[in-house]
Amino acid sequence: MRYAIMRRVSPALASCELTFLGRTQIDPQRADRQHREIGHRLESAGLTVITLPADPDLPDSTFTEDTAIVLDEIAIITNPGAAIRQAETGAIASILEHFRPLRWIKAPGTIEGGDVVRVDRTLYVGVGTRTNQAGLAQLTAIVAPFGYAVLPVQLSAVLHLKTAATWLGDGTWLINPAWIDPLPLRRFRLLPVPADEPWAANTLLLNGLLHLPVGFPLTSELLSANGYAVSCVEMDELQKAEAGLTCLSVIFEA
Ligand code: GLY
Repeated sequence: MRYAIMRRVSPALASCELTFLGRTQIDPQRADRQHREIGHRLESAGLTVITLPADPDLPDSTFTEDTAIVLDEIAIITNPGAAIRQAETGAIASILEHFRPLRWIKAPGTIEGGDVVRVDRTLYVGVGTRTNQAGLAQLTAIVAPFGYAVLPVQLSAVLHLKTAATWLGDGTWLINPAWIDPLPLRRFRLLPVPADEPWAANTLLLNGLLHLPVGFPLTSELLSANGYAVSCVEMDELQKAEAGLTCLSVIFEA
């Protein structure tokens, strides 16, 4: 069975962390409606969605992906690089402890789940504003006994690795090459997003259907031309908080 852990949009979303976007007015209720639609898509794809209530004290807590890295053998509870986000992890750990043995990233190490992409037994980890070298070293030590290698990917001007790169399976990544150093991915086929759509590289693949935020027609065409079935979803209110589609859930099998 496949699960997704989500958390309702905080009424304080307008006070979210922003790293590369300017602050604009955010309507938390509209963001929550868009969040619910994404939850419905996960359910329609057959996932069991566990939804935590909104937390008015944690503006970014709807971005559950950043709080954990779930592998087949263990779940690693992260230590988010944004200090205010560190209080988000407890609620997620209390769910994941029912499914996996837990491991923890500890200060001075920081890491966020949005920086970690698993491809077979390799974890590609974005190193930028939220994930540091100490976090990377701790993750490497935690996963090595389970046969995983960790490869760093340098980020530039982007929040998370997943903001700039999606693993599409079958040896292919969708990436924005302007925001990451693609060298560690050189053995793969890389599909670059059109330069006019830099935010389009975060997509969510569910049962063969590739969900893409509304507003990226060139990327949608590119993906269709490469044989992917694409479905667009409205999430512009969430995007004002630097959200990507993947960051709204922690997905795992159990
Ligand atoms: N607003 C998303 C983040 O900065 O973590």
